[in-house]
Amino acid sequence: MRQRHLWNQIANGFARPFLDRWGHFREDREDGINRLRSLAELPLLLKHRPGTVPDELWSPRRINALVRQLHLTSYLEIGVLEGETFANVEVRRRYGVDPDPLFDAVLLPRGSKFAVMTSDAFFAMIRPSQRFDVAFIDGLHTVEQTYRDLINTFAHLRGGFVLIDDTVPSDEYSAIPDQQESFRARDEAGLEGRPWHGDVWRVVMLLDRHHPELEWRTIIGEGNPQTLVWRRRRGAKVTAASADEIALAKQPTYTEVFANGVPDFFKASSESQALGECVQSLGH
Ligand SMILES: C[S@@+](CC[C@H](N)C(=O)[O-])C[C@H]1O[C@@H](n2cnc3c(N)ncnc32)[C@H](O)[C@@H]1O
Repeated sequence: MRQRHLWNQIANGFARPFLDRWGHFREDREDGINRLRSLAELPLLLKHRPGTVPDELWSPRRINALVRQLHLTSYLEIGVLEGETFANVEVRRRYGVDPDPLFDAVLLPRGSKFAVMTSDAFFAMIRPSQRFDVAFIDGLHTVEQTYRDLINTFAHLRGGFVLIDDTVPSDEYSAIPDQQESFRARDEAGLEGRPWHGDVWRVVMLLDRHHPELEWRTIIGEGNPQTLVWRRRRGAKVTAASADEIALAKQPTYTEVFANGVPDFFKASSESQALGECVQSLGH
């Protein structure tokens, strides 16, 4: 009973404005909440740790490096899950969207807004004049959804960049677009683990076929493969490929396209090379 009372008080964030000023209290409070949450078998809270971002978190490491060098201030993350990246991105304003977040949205890092909904509903809701500098696309890992997220994001992107997660599947099983089917096929093949990247890789094919106004690099190594995308010319309009063109991009199989490794049109780069080229291009 006492525990429930305490939980209610904490969840309502009654003392948050005061306690959040001192990291020390915030840490203690989060630890306390997380102890209660694990007793209740709830997922742990989003952990905002001001200070050094652990180097092994490749998404915030890449995003923060660009944010610092390009002096960017507002960030959008599509698909936030437990908030590991969201909490560690060093920006003044952050916006998150996820229909099923695994953290308590009462305890967000300062300067954040969060929408518990799909990315489609989010883009339908926000003002057309809303602008972001940076976006991380890591929601539903299918070509249709990720491509729609990319096009919708560019309609709200000032002059910065978009990072797309999981653009290079680890094998043919991880490339199966339906997550449950991917897991089933992997189990049947007697393989372990649960890597799932869907057919996000086809978005890079659409970039290559239909987006001469965009530039991109696929970062390989030092973490998950991710594709970094930006406009070649500031303000260039980004127009979506047609439904027929998207359907055509669904014809070649993963095995065919990746028969000789990552295809040239992915523009595979090391992390430092990709970030450097993006900074050079956007910084001028
Ligand atoms: C791979 S996780 C995100 C991980 C997170 N970006 C990070 O770096 O820690 C994918 C998330 O996408 C969310 N998701 C699924 N469908 C979505 C949709 N239509 N719109 C937005 N998010 C979605 C899922 O609920 C899940 O939390």
